[in-house]
This record gives sequence, C-alpha cells and structure tokens, in this order.
Amino acid sequence: MSLAEPEKASLTTAFVCNKSESVLAVIEKCLDNGLGTCLIVEDDQRLAGRISLDDIRQALLDGTAIVDPTLGWHLTDAGTTVATRRLRNDIDDDDVLQPVVDPSGHLTGVLIDRSTVPVQVAKPHMTRHEFRSMLDAFISCWISSKGPYVQKFEQEFRSFVGVRHGVAVSNGTVALHLALVALGVGPGDEVIVPVIVDVDRETWCMTLESVEHACTAQTKAIIPVHLYGRPAEIGPITEFARVRGIAVVEDCAEAHGARYAGRVVGQFGDVSCFSFYANKIVTTGEGGMCLTDSEDLAASLRLLRDHGMSPDRSYWHERVGYNYRITNLQAAIGESQLWRINGTLQRNARIAALYREALEGIPGVRFPPAMSDKYEPVVWLACVQVPADKRLAVMRAAHEARIETRPFFHPLSTLPPYSRYARSCPNSAELSATGINLPTSGDVDDQVVERVARVFHGVLA
Ligand SMILES: Cc1ncc(COP(=O)(O)O)c(C=O)c1O
Repeated sequence: MSLAEPEKASLTTAFVCNKSESVLAVIEKCLDNGLGTCLIVEDDQRLAGRISLDDIRQALLDGTAIVDPTLGWHLTDAGTTVATRRLRNDIDDDDVLQPVVDPSGHLTGVLIDRSTVPVQVAKPHMTRHEFRSMLDAFISCWISSKGPYVQKFEQEFRSFVGVRHGVAVSNGTVALHLALVALGVGPGDEVIVPVIVDVDRETWCMTLESVEHACTAQTKAIIPVHLYGRPAEIGPITEFARVRGIAVVEDCAEAHGARYAGRVVGQFGDVSCFSFYANKIVTTGEGGMCLTDSEDLAASLRLLRDHGMSPDRSYWHERVGYNYRITNLQAAIGESQLWRINGTLQRNARIAALYREALEGIPGVRFPPAMSDKYEPVVWLACVQVPADKRLAVMRAAHEARIETRPFFHPLSTLPPYSRYARSCPNSAELSATGINLPTSGDVDDQVVERVARVFHGVLA
C-alpha cells in the first residue's frame, strides 16, 4: 500500500466528502481523483462510509437522488437532505481507497491500494471539467454537430497544433478518408502506406529513404504515421513530396503534441489527421480532426464532411459527400481534455520513466530507441520489446496478475485486404512480434509498476 496525501487538508480535497455535500460535488470529486469513489465523513470527521460513481448512478436511475431546491442536488433517503441511502459502510479489502481511522472512528488518512486491482492499458480520465462541459452541452439540447463546442474545439485544437483550420469529424479513420478525397486521390492513384514501406528501426516510422524508393509516377499522396508518439522524419519527407507534387497527409492519431525540428507534428502535411478515440492522448470517446493551412482544402473538407452540401444554399449538394460530423457532446469533452493535455503528456512521460527504471536490466527487455535531437516524441502508450518467443508468456502472466497489456499492431503487409501489396518488411515484422503496450493512465503508480516488474521478472529473469 502507498500512503497518499496524509495531511487532512489534501485528504479533504481529493478523496473525502462531508456527508452534507451535494451529489454534484461528490460526483466531481470521484471524477477528479480518478478512483471513481470517495470516503464520506460526518461534520466531526468520523468516517460515515464510502460512495462510488456506480452507487450514484444507481441512485439516479432508481430515483433516490432528487433535486432539492434549497440545498442543491442531494441524494435523499425518506426526506432527509443528506443522503445516503447508497452510502456503503462496508469497506472491502479490495477497494482501492482505504480509510485510516483512529480508535474513535475519526478519519486520519487514506491509503491507495492498487496491489490487486485490475489495471487497463488506457483508461480515459474524465474530470469535473469534462463533466461540466458535457452537462452544459446536454442541458442546452444542442446534441448534434450544430452546438457551439464543435467550433470551439476546432479552434482550440488547431491553435494547439499551430495550424490555420480545423475540421472536426467523427473519428480518425474518416479524417484520413476525408483528407484523401479532399486532395483528389482516387482510383488508380498510389498512396504510400497502403503501398507499403517498412519502418525504420530507430524511429519506428517511415523514412525519406523508404518513401523515395516506393514513389512512382502514380504516387498521389504519402501518409507518414507518427507511431506510438514517435515522429516520423516528417520535415524531409514533406520537402521531397512538395518538389514532386505529391500530397502529404500526416497521421498524428497517436502523437498529439510530439515535435519534429521544434515544430508540432500536424504542421507539416497538406492535411494532418488526428484521432480522439477513448485511448488517445486527447479523447472525445470517438472523434477526429483534419487540420490544414489551406483555406481551399478546409472548405472542401467541411463540404465533404457535411453531405457535400453547399454552406450557402440549403439541401443543395454540390458533390457526393459524407456525414462525418462530430457531435456537440463529444466536442464538449474534447475541449476540456485539451486544457489538460500538458498534464496528460507529463503523466505519460513519468509513467514510461517509471517502467524504464523498474524493467531495466531484465534479460531481453528493450525500450523504445533514443531519438536524435530533432525528434521530440511523446508517450502515447508506454511500450517495451521482449523476445518474440517469450511475449505470449509475459502477456499471459500479466493477465493473471490482472494487468492488461496489448501486443503491437500487425504489419500492414500481413493483413488480408493488403495482401496484393505484400512485401518484405523485416523491421515492421520484428517490432510487431516483440512489442508490448503497458498500462498508461492515471491508474498507474509505483505499486502498479512494481506488479508489472514482478510479471516481467517472473517470465524473463
Ligand atoms: C495511427 C492511427 N491512425 C488512425 C487511427 C484511426 O482512428 P480512429 O480509431 O479514431 O478511427 C488510429 C487509431 O486508433 C491510429 O492509431
């Protein structure tokens, strides 16, 4: 067990609510502390019990939570304002949040115990900010793409990346599709990515050299993917493409905030595409965005996103388009996520450093290769490589220890729809056979890292 926040002041702020606090306050505390649960105390600090977001959800669903106009929104039990029908007095040993009480029952501290709890690879952290924005969007009834958060999110995200136009869409996949259609890529054109190139051993991404070899007269676009937060050699690739009149669509789905030569990735391509799926650095649940400096491309992207419908003439479809819009509810979450992106990136970097410290020296464990100064990667998911013949055993042992891990992606050339483009990609094959993603979320602390290290030691040492 690790002692978290032993002083009373910080206890009160993060993990403890007074019994008379409103449901809203309790929900927000449960969200902010990332545990989804809070201890509840009486006015004199005696422990009254605990409540979780699940308890509150049930209370809301079965009607035991009501709005009290004088006291705010409270859980009620037969007319008492302090609400606690759902307050649980039982503290299970396997609860993450454990109270420390003195002999007279006063709360003197809390313990965060993650020695046995299940840990996910990538759990989104929804705070009070996401919750309030969501409620705002919900209560406003602007639940489609027409609400104000969509434009706000577009503006704030494009300015975070440093690009002139942002077009938010329903996921990262359609962002890529929209970009290619807007750039006029069609049947018979070649795009480097489905025209497969191997990745570099150091960057784990395509390089200028590999792109040069793969380009033909039919090449219309290149999609450099910044994999696992590691920037591709995007500056030289973009320069090469400009000279050859080839479009560049950056795939930044896994690399929000990474930089190449001091510039944020997403600034280089004609269009750059982001994903805001639930496991991404910034999430809207499902969501994505296309960024571009070109006014014309931005106009095309917007038109195509919206059924190809003229922005000036209702129901007049200028061309065949799609409905790839994002909702106001999703954008509301995204905006709050974006405020916290620097904190998220710092947290992920710290987690990766903890794993490195704990796993360094275990036979066969390799860490992502260091990159030269030009590259400033971010950590999307912490990852390591292990000998291919041991990976399954490591992942199984982690599963036994209630720790979720993921294998790296398969090389594109091995997937059935792309078999016609299959070619030998030894670096991709090696990465794919040896890579493991480790839990990278607010749930990862020293104790979890220790559990992961025990798993690796057990199998590999
Ligand atoms: C590199 C990359 N590109 C594109 C996508 C697609 O994004 P989405 O899942 O939002 O469709 C992902 C995915 O998750 C990704 O990792």
